[in-house]
Amino acid sequence: MMTVPAAPSRDCPLCPRLVAFRHRWRQKEPDWQNAPVNSFGDLNTQVLIVGLAPGLRGANRTGRPFTGDWAGDLLYATLISRGFASGAYDRHGDDDLTLLDCRITNAVRCVPPENKPTTAESKACLPFLSAEIAAMPNLKIILSLGGLSHGMVLSALGHKKSAFAFGHGRMHAVTDTLLLANSYHCSRYNTNTGRLTADMFDLVFRKIRQHLDAS
Ligand code: URA
Repeated sequence: MMTVPAAPSRDCPLCPRLVAFRHRWRQKEPDWQNAPVNSFGDLNTQVLIVGLAPGLRGANRTGRPFTGDWAGDLLYATLISRGFASGAYDRHGDDDLTLLDCRITNAVRCVPPENKPTTAESKACLPFLSAEIAAMPNLKIILSLGGLSHGMVLSALGHKKSAFAFGHGRMHAVTDTLLLANSYHCSRYNTNTGRLTADMFDLVFRKIRQHLDAS
């Protein structure tokens, strides 16, 4: 039987700064999620995409990773075009989008001020990422979006953060059966500055697809 991974409770108390931020936004926007955001997609899939943390007006509003902000527009368009999702994506999450052979989670489950979790907050959330990885029996590739996600995945797998250097487009063999792929985060900042283009992002998913087809 599939083990459902441990997930933070709606009122997870582990990070005082994030709890205070959550309470502020619950007062301001009572209709938003304003709580830890759970993963999206099936546990039996071969690919796990690991973002940074919920966007304030994206996943923290809609309750689904990468749903409702710029990063999600690019991520879901790319997933649909490369056959990793079907249906339509809607910024409110009011859609029939289905992930195909991938699951999406965040390294840190609560929205942090200015998108920047502290080291202590990342550490506090690590057990949820470890549980997530352990609960995916068919996992072949983890895609880390950005350096923080990369470091946390390495920690979750018991590696030193320095064991594999992050680099856009790299694929690291982190165990005999598991690859860790890297991409710059698909944030508005990275795409506006040209650090990440839609073509660069697309190529990452093409490489992942090639690897799955060959394995
Ligand atoms: N939304 C998420 O859920 N995660 C990110 O990393 C960015 C936006």
